[in-house]
Amino acid sequence: MKGLILSGGKGTRLRPLTYTSAKQLVPVANKPVLFYGIEALAGAGIRDIGIVVQQPTIELGDTRSEIVAAVGDGSKWGVRVEYIDQDAPRGIAHAVQISEPFIDGGPFVVYLGDNLLTKSIVPFVAEFERLRPAAQILLARVPDPQRFGVAELQDGRVVRLEEKPREPKSDLALVGVYLFGPEIFESVKRIKPSRRDELEITDAIQDLIDRGLPVRPHIVEGWWKDTGKLEDMLEANRIVLETIQPRIDGDVDDASRVEGRVVIEAGARVERSVVRGPVIIGARARIVRSYIGPFTSIMNDVEIRESELEHSIVLEGSVITDIATRIEDSLIGKHVRIYREPVKPSAYRFVLGDKSEVGIRW
Ligand code: DAU
Repeated sequence: MKGLILSGGKGTRLRPLTYTSAKQLVPVANKPVLFYGIEALAGAGIRDIGIVVQQPTIELGDTRSEIVAAVGDGSKWGVRVEYIDQDAPRGIAHAVQISEPFIDGGPFVVYLGDNLLTKSIVPFVAEFERLRPAAQILLARVPDPQRFGVAELQDGRVVRLEEKPREPKSDLALVGVYLFGPEIFESVKRIKPSRRDELEITDAIQDLIDRGLPVRPHIVEGWWKDTGKLEDMLEANRIVLETIQPRIDGDVDDASRVEGRVVIEAGARVERSVVRGPVIIGARARIVRSYIGPFTSIMNDVEIRESELEHSIVLEGSVITDIATRIEDSLIGKHVRIYREPVKPSAYRFVLGDKSEVGIRW
């Protein structure tokens, strides 16, 4: 069985970070979301993985080379990775369509590169191989089904699927992991673009149902997140941090306190600070006279001085100094500088990219 990971798309909901970076590379507990998907496929014994990437354009930037640089040929995970170029984000079903030559006839898994599951996909794959339906979909109960593809079941069979319905018929959302037999390629050819002008995978699966082919549901009880939005990223980060194995490879001076589940990578240094886990601090980061509170991920080469941070993600190379109020619930991009200016008049001075968000407390 082959695997297909979708890592193109627009990433509009995570702007401004995704103006210049792939949303699938935003880290959760200091590891790109995309890597969790590769690990899930490798863990299910899949050795050949196609990664669909967006061809560089002026509007969408060049996320392709970033992804290629991060993943390479897949040998880190013991898999072979091939890249499949999509000219524009024309939909998940379109990405499947252009991957037909790579799939070359057999059954395959599609894994959306911004999805994160904590449960293994092994039982899901095993069930598909045993029963060999035309498709098997993974479903999860969610409080906000209108944000997802939604499935309607009858007597344990999938009877109808709808993409982001205004009035959902159930609370069963389509998780971004699908298993297909080659029948899907015919369905992908038969469907038309949707309201959002994409070839929807939901419509292609509906077409399988309409052709009388078996589509099996598999409900996941474990936890799953589509990391397309800030709140989801922070929640994913929180849940994954709760499972990390504590390890201190960096330096912590005697005047500091490290409590709970904490990872401090090699080359990082914590001075006169309190770190209260679950927290991960990346390689070569420096934490000086600061407080790092629960559910915080700090990437490599970040510097935090005389500041307090909690429930946040800080990407590599950023510097935060002398901030009097605690920073919470924040996602801070790469090479950002947040500092206090000692000179009067006291006023805020910002240089913020398009679609940045700053919340100032009264
Ligand atoms: O997360 C689960 C949901 O994913 C499902 O419930 C929906 O039925 C399904 O349509 C999808 O919805 P989204 O609107 O969240 O999909 P998104 O546009 O975020 O794309 C998902 C991934 O696929 C993301 O990593 C980008 C990639 N992608 C997307 C498109 C449209 C591509 O590689 N190429 C594309 O053309």
